[in-house]
Amino acid sequence: MVDATGSKYPDGDDEELPNQPEKADDDIRAAWNLRPRSLAEYIGQPEVVERLHIGVSAARARGDAIDHILFHGPPGLGKTTLAHIIAVEMVTNITHTSGPALERPADIVGILSNLAAGDVLFIDEIHRLNHSVEEYLYSAMEDFKVDFVAGKGAYAKTIPFPLKHFTLIGATTRAGLLSAPLRDRFGITCHLDFYADDELTLVIKRSATLLKVNIDEESAREIAGRSRGTPRIANRLLRRVRDYAQVKADSNIDLELAKHALAQEGVDSAGLDRLDRQYLTTILQNYDGGPVGVEAIAATLNEDSSILVDVVEPFLLKMGFVIRSSSGRKITDLARDHLGFPPTGGQVRLL
Ligand code: ADE
Repeated sequence: MVDATGSKYPDGDDEELPNQPEKADDDIRAAWNLRPRSLAEYIGQPEVVERLHIGVSAARARGDAIDHILFHGPPGLGKTTLAHIIAVEMVTNITHTSGPALERPADIVGILSNLAAGDVLFIDEIHRLNHSVEEYLYSAMEDFKVDFVAGKGAYAKTIPFPLKHFTLIGATTRAGLLSAPLRDRFGITCHLDFYADDELTLVIKRSATLLKVNIDEESAREIAGRSRGTPRIANRLLRRVRDYAQVKADSNIDLELAKHALAQEGVDSAGLDRLDRQYLTTILQNYDGGPVGVEAIAATLNEDSSILVDVVEPFLLKMGFVIRSSSGRKITDLARDHLGFPPTGGQVRLL
């Protein structure tokens, strides 16, 4: 695997580095080590896995590169993992980069010209590509060539550069931000959805085996139920519960211990973390339950609005804790109940 961005780990997780680099390195490396390496090992997303299996098998039988693929969906659901699995299944190399890392056309031309036939180029956060870079991708994806312009003004020369038949895999949390010409050049488009608790329970049991910790069914279920439908979160919580078990209980995880450890992590019974709860209580207390625009919530929380839109809101919307209307975000009675607030127009509940 080639990393074209200087990113230490090929999962776009570098931005999650906490303040203690050594600890973060361990965490990110651990997350990477727990990922499935083949479609057969992959748990969940059955329709996506089936479509990829067919695409890979057909391309291999023809001796061709698989068509360009776009993965979209909330963070942590397996977009990067699937890109790497496809390279493994196609028995080819993968070059990993991201939209923001490709600043100039020369960056993308350099990478494209180094790809061998069948190679995978993975571009994470593809919705953040610079427009001039994106334009180079159109002919690269469609005709496997780029026209590189050297020089300026009257002396500018267009140098056509043929490329090998490669596969572009793009990943985005915001398919709606992709331009139509780019979106249309992907032959296979897959939406990744939140995982069911049963699937996350299997992910946790598989990871526990790899981590060599003992976990019973009900504890795995407890962690799964608090993982926001997201394998990356499930594996992170498992590692924190594992740490707790290692210190307190000879590495054996039971339900009581799991609940203690999860409470210590600030994860509540619905899987909401500190930022989720702050988001909801901000709408409730500062904006009278809404409707309120996301920029106003972001300003109150001193948080980037894209974090709220990409990371926080998708799960809260899925849970029915918040609704989005043309006039803004509005909190629901379900969320009020979860946070211990009275329903709209109701009385304060005395605990
Ligand atoms: N680890 C993280 N995501 C996984 C998945 N979808 N299947 C198996 N193990 C995983």
